[in-house]
Amino acid sequence: MRLFDTHAHYDDPKYDTEYPGGADRAITESRKAGVERIICAGTRPETNSSTLKLAEEYDYIYAAVGIHPSDIRFFDRKHDQTLLKKTEEQLAHPKVVAVGEIGLDYHYEETDRERQKFFFDSQMKIAATHSLPVVIHDREAHGDSFETVRRYPEVSGVFHCFSGSAEMSKQLVRLGYCISFGGTVTFKNAKEVKEVAATVPDDMFLIETDAPYLAPSPHRGKINLSAYLPLVVYALAEIRGTSPEAIAELTYENAMRVFKLR
Ligand code: NI
Repeated sequence: MRLFDTHAHYDDPKYDTEYPGGADRAITESRKAGVERIICAGTRPETNSSTLKLAEEYDYIYAAVGIHPSDIRFFDRKHDQTLLKKTEEQLAHPKVVAVGEIGLDYHYEETDRERQKFFFDSQMKIAATHSLPVVIHDREAHGDSFETVRRYPEVSGVFHCFSGSAEMSKQLVRLGYCISFGGTVTFKNAKEVKEVAATVPDDMFLIETDAPYLAPSPHRGKINLSAYLPLVVYALAEIRGTSPEAIAELTYENAMRVFKLR
């Protein structure tokens, strides 16, 4: 079984403090579990740089670079244009396969939604200019996220760790977006995401860990690793009534196509 983890963050400092051997060991362990390729996603210029460093170090690691909606709070508004410019420069690296992660996160009340929308829109434009797919983070912002991607028909990509409804997933698929599933499909009470996982077309879904976050059951609440990706595969196989091997192969091929790796 060969696996493609389409979303992880191995530059996260959690690996230094919570995992013996750190990120390097976590990456190496994932190979033993059949993970042949990993996309690491940056969230602001600093983490984009550390992600690119990992992609230089490991030939099977690729990078997405972008500005995450939750990370813009680290910067003063007067630097917004500089931040975007810096991100666009980072896209020139040969291991970059997508603009991401970008999107909207309305989880926290105090968040500046207009500024998040400005960054999301600007980066959709950047993706269009560079003909790159996007990796989208949509947390509790389904309406606005959909409304934004709909305005850029020339862009497509993936909704990572999808948490919307089956109806929304159908509309996204129609726009050319893949739906990516992670640890949440293994959770007992995740009724909605399981419904999405049961109905999304074969050629329109991907798998991911979002490591070090969102560890699948039975590791829920602990540090996540790409080596746990088979747990996501088993859950999807059960939900879709097929074999783990079929899920692994489909999602591997889908990822290769979406991120233009051949
Ligand atoms: Ni992420």
